[in-house]
Amino acid sequence: MKKLIQEHRRKFGEFEVIDFVDEKEVERLRDHIRVDAPISVNWTWEYGSEVEELRKLYEKGKVNQWNAETDVDWDRPLTNDEFILNPRASLLASLCQMMGKDEATQKAAMFDEINYVLCQLLHGEQAALQLCGQLTNVCEKMDEKWYASSQVIDEARHVEVFSKLMQRKFGTIYPIGGTLKILLDELLTADSVQKKTLGMQTLFEGMAVGIMDMMRSESQNELLTDVLRRVEQDEARHAAFGVLMMRRVVSEAEPEQMEEMEDWAFSILEALNANQQLDMLRLFGPKYGFDPELVVKMVTALPNFAEFNSLAYMHTVIPNLKNLGLITERTEGDWRRLGMLTDKRMTAEEIGTILN
Ligand SMILES: [Fe+2]
Ligand SMILES: [Fe+2]
Repeated sequence: MKKLIQEHRRKFGEFEVIDFVDEKEVERLRDHIRVDAPISVNWTWEYGSEVEELRKLYEKGKVNQWNAETDVDWDRPLTNDEFILNPRASLLASLCQMMGKDEATQKAAMFDEINYVLCQLLHGEQAALQLCGQLTNVCEKMDEKWYASSQVIDEARHVEVFSKLMQRKFGTIYPIGGTLKILLDELLTADSVQKKTLGMQTLFEGMAVGIMDMMRSESQNELLTDVLRRVEQDEARHAAFGVLMMRRVVSEAEPEQMEEMEDWAFSILEALNANQQLDMLRLFGPKYGFDPELVVKMVTALPNFAEFNSLAYMHTVIPNLKNLGLITERTEGDWRRLGMLTDKRMTAEEIGTILN
């Protein structure tokens, strides 16, 4: 199967990682601001509703709007003097604890890690905003255009709420990682509405919901919990749109098209998984005194690596792909081998003991 980002792959023991060692190369990727994307504009003269469920979703979207500036109580504190999550949920806090660092350092390390992860979600939200804007053009039916436009305002609000959270509380907006920039550009430049919907609504929103939901369930900070809960409520509508659209797509697809979508979905998530947070670990390794390569080697060599690693994947995206028929016997073994698909899920308590 075709693998993306071949030129940055290295073997860490049994595991093949994508590792951007040269920061200049990542800067070049970030500087690629103007991206040419093929977009077709579709007029329609059918103004009546054709897809009832989509119309319902659009109506739901209208009544469930919220205001990121006035509905969120921004006076609530969020600082690195507290464990903003349960310590077991933070890789960096666990590492610092393992290395015998004091609690203040563990708190600061967790704060940095969550700041970094939320910034990657923020950049992903910007991609979702741009992609939904594209969908208002490329979709053929009026119901789809109306729904997509309502998601545009949702995604704008997500960019707003996460960027304000970074500016007002965390204090830093970390730039996008190299792997994520390449993968988001892959979706934004995809030439079909099928790939755009599969890529954004099923793959990336599925991953984002998994990460946000895991973070919210371990959150110990009111403001963070509130922001994540609000964004997740919107994402539930987006996921429903993804499922409705993709069900139609797969029901009309020929076997070769199904295979192509299956391979494409795999190649995107395989590349995401291959990064193993190396971008983040490289950034904070010097500050907290750990070797980023060693951390990834240690984690990927754990006997229960798959159970731990698959949590974010098994949360939403893998079940959805399976339901759509986009994980078949042909590829299931590969998903399992790379620790993205498992039968057993780890409990929160088990996660806490993984590095000890
Ligand atoms: Fe979003
Ligand atoms: Fe979304």
